[in-house]
Amino acid sequence: MAQYDVIVIGSGPGGYVAAIRCAQLGLKTACVEGRDTLGGTCLNIGCIPSKALLHATHMLHEAEHNFAQMGLKGKSPTVDWKQMLSYKDEVIGQNTKGIEFLFKKNKIDWIKGWASIPEAGKVKVGDDTYDTKNIIVASGSVPSSLPGIEIDEKTVVTSTGALELGKIPKKLVVIGAGVIGLELGSVYARLGAEVQVIEFLDVITPGLDGEVQKAFQKLLTKQGLKFTLGAAVQSVEVSRSKAQVSYKLRKDDSEHTMDADTVLVATGRKPYTDGLGLAELGVEMTDRGQIKTDQHWHTNIPGIYAIGDAITGPMLAHKAEDEGMAAAEVIAGKHGHVNYGVIPGVIYTHPEVASVGQTEEQLKSEGRAYKAGKFSFMGNGRAKANFAADGFVKILADKDTDRILGAHIIGPMAGDLIHEICVAMEFGAAAQDVAMTCHAHPTYSEAVREAALACGDGPIHM
Ligand code: NAI
Repeated sequence: MAQYDVIVIGSGPGGYVAAIRCAQLGLKTACVEGRDTLGGTCLNIGCIPSKALLHATHMLHEAEHNFAQMGLKGKSPTVDWKQMLSYKDEVIGQNTKGIEFLFKKNKIDWIKGWASIPEAGKVKVGDDTYDTKNIIVASGSVPSSLPGIEIDEKTVVTSTGALELGKIPKKLVVIGAGVIGLELGSVYARLGAEVQVIEFLDVITPGLDGEVQKAFQKLLTKQGLKFTLGAAVQSVEVSRSKAQVSYKLRKDDSEHTMDADTVLVATGRKPYTDGLGLAELGVEMTDRGQIKTDQHWHTNIPGIYAIGDAITGPMLAHKAEDEGMAAAEVIAGKHGHVNYGVIPGVIYTHPEVASVGQTEEQLKSEGRAYKAGKFSFMGNGRAKANFAADGFVKILADKDTDRILGAHIIGPMAGDLIHEICVAMEFGAAAQDVAMTCHAHPTYSEAVREAALACGDGPIHM
């Protein structure tokens, strides 16, 4: 059997990117994947399919709400749910086949099946055992449910089941106002479902900048989503394909119920390391079930590395990709590096929400002297023309040095706009550097420049 330099376990964004970088650096590489297609959660049952449904339903929303005003008259489109799902499946297929092509191009062997690690330097798949100098564990994560809730992926679903419901529910209860709950909640609200979100905390999207949280909740409420905050879900009972969600309000411990056709449990994800044999090998784990690594993604066992959702840090595809590239470089004797201070987060609702760096709340609790430059999309000509003037850009900069410490955007294409600030932060730029950069007119990105101007002598269009 072939001797590999690296075997990557898992072909999600962390694993497939690690494998490609290893191969590009001249290492003989294989990747083990037990699913029928490459790409992991992100391509098969996560980021990509959810974005296809978000795109399709946003088009529907535009047709229903904005077409007539632009002089586009005619019957509103009707929804063919089966066709929408097959469009989504086609998008998945194109993406997963793309990874297969990249593996072939880079001469990476796809070992089909589920891997275990009998000892360092060996990977077992089915009856075959492969020798390898290095192993990268990129086994990802799975949805984590709550005690008292049984997932059947039909009536009570995780994000996986929510991407292929048999029909559009009349009433959807979403447990958890995090990224998954709000993205998929938006999809079904646009399709006409009554969407009720129950959230444990008193705010939505914990961890985001407070001002963004408030504006975001207001905009989603305008779109028809309803929120019950400060509520701890206790259980979900299913009877004849109908569900009843029981929850307690934290302020007074009062008990309540809510009926639904479908319940989406979106209360977070947990690392997936089942069947790898890590405990038997003595791989150190955190008390949250994550694989412990040093700053070079090395576990405590020589030759075994780990990246992505299976280790600590935000569960984001792009964080996993960066770690995959960096771990490959470390194995190849180079200096792999990830700047964890500049990892953007994006929520692909409409409007989008994007953030990078520190929030105002974090800066206040650190006692850091900062200034906030804010600009509303109401002052952006392009946004007004495109019915996209809701939201704002906020840039936070050090009060004395003007160095950018964070940025928070709610508005059109926020997920793309944020990268200007990411690059600026990588270069240690000041808000003035962004403010002095010529931005094409008319673009949404002018709002980023105006927010940077607001950190100095003031924006022009406000
Ligand atoms: P999340 O951690 O974003 O949100 C979970 C929410 O559930 C929290 O607000 C939490 O307070 C709430 N919750 C927990 N227990 C509860 C209870 N008993 N009753 C009511 N609410 C409760 O987790 P989510 O949305 O499931 O996403 C999982 C992971 O996947 C996250 O790390 C997320 O960043 C990632 N992801 C990222 C996407 C993106 O970048 N656009 C898209 C989808 C997922």
